Amino acid sequence: MKLKIAVLSGDGIGPEVCEQGVKVLKAIEKKFKHQFTFVDGHVGGAALDTKGVPLPDETLDICLNADAILFGAIGDPKFENSPDVKIRPEEGLLKLRKELGLFANIRPLKVFEPLVHKSPIKEKVIKNTDFIIFRELTGGIYYGEKSTSSDGNSAMDTSHYSIEEIDRVAHMAFKSAKSRRKKLTLIDKANVLETSRLWRKRVKELAKQYPDVDVNYLYVDNAAMKIIVNPRQFDVILTENLFGDIISDEASVISGSIGLLASTSIGEKSVLFEPIHGSFPEMKGKNLANPLATILSTALLLEHFKLYEEADAIKNAVEKSIEHHITTPDINSTKKFAHTSSVGDFISEYINDKKNILYYMENISLGQSTII
Ligand code: IPM
Ligand code: MN
Repeated sequence: MKLKIAVLSGDGIGPEVCEQGVKVLKAIEKKFKHQFTFVDGHVGGAALDTKGVPLPDETLDICLNADAILFGAIGDPKFENSPDVKIRPEEGLLKLRKELGLFANIRPLKVFEPLVHKSPIKEKVIKNTDFIIFRELTGGIYYGEKSTSSDGNSAMDTSHYSIEEIDRVAHMAFKSAKSRRKKLTLIDKANVLETSRLWRKRVKELAKQYPDVDVNYLYVDNAAMKIIVNPRQFDVILTENLFGDIISDEASVISGSIGLLASTSIGEKSVLFEPIHGSFPEMKGKNLANPLATILSTALLLEHFKLYEEADAIKNAVEKSIEHHITTPDINSTKKFAHTSSVGDFISEYINDKKNILYYMENISLGQSTII
């Protein structure tokens, strides 16, 4: 298959983790005889520095002309808390989502068996957790009218949703539930918010079209508690933009590391894959960031194009890297950890020639674990 992939590596650890993602895709390309083309685009703080805007037009063009987008991370502390900063890097991502119409953000969460002890939550609580969050991504308070008064003493954000915006992501979530354990939970704040009441009303109506899906409704505060106390009860979670942002970061602690979670954003014209973690500026350039979330995002990319065997090859290699502790310090509990680039090397090598795995394990550059 021929695929043109836009690579928007962005800020902080974005470039180093994206490099591993591209490395792994190149290994797949070679092994399965595909033709992948990679086109780099600037975004975020990196683009603000060079072009003065967080999403230059040429980056948008690259995305519009690509079959898929691999995204790294956005955000740089140098643009934070400074009164001179008029545009923040994050605006690049928000604009990209809006321009490409990426209305559904899909964040699957599974516990990786060998890393279950890494989670701050008890093993017996999180074991076998497997749910998927459908977060609406182009509406709500993120995109509503907002302003700060001229004296700077008051500010306002508004949240808006239409039934069209609710329906398109809700249908996706219902379809996913149908193919899974047939349970959908809508997370809202319908005891307080009008938008939430509209979500609830629409989801109740749409539920009639999916009679085999069991639907339940939770207020976001209660859901935040239930996700930690009994995460196994969830199968498909559907929620609006802001609640989805918060709930998915919270849920990430279940997996053992946020460095493992990948996501897909689907739109009318485009599809984007990105790790859930942020730009982690403290770790930038150290070759220590966990590239697995990005590498697993490339597996989601391949699955999107129905390249299931290829995606499985990546997932198997990731499992092997965890099994053999060829992992970065955040998830490595042995005395030796692997660097970001070594994890990418190992996974590509494993994809290309599994027999060489032992050679790789002996020769891979491992650091002494002084960090954990
Ligand atoms: C995410 C991020 C973004 C969001 C930021 C970087 C704007 O936290 O993708 O979850 O809030 O949506
Ligand atoms: Mn977030």
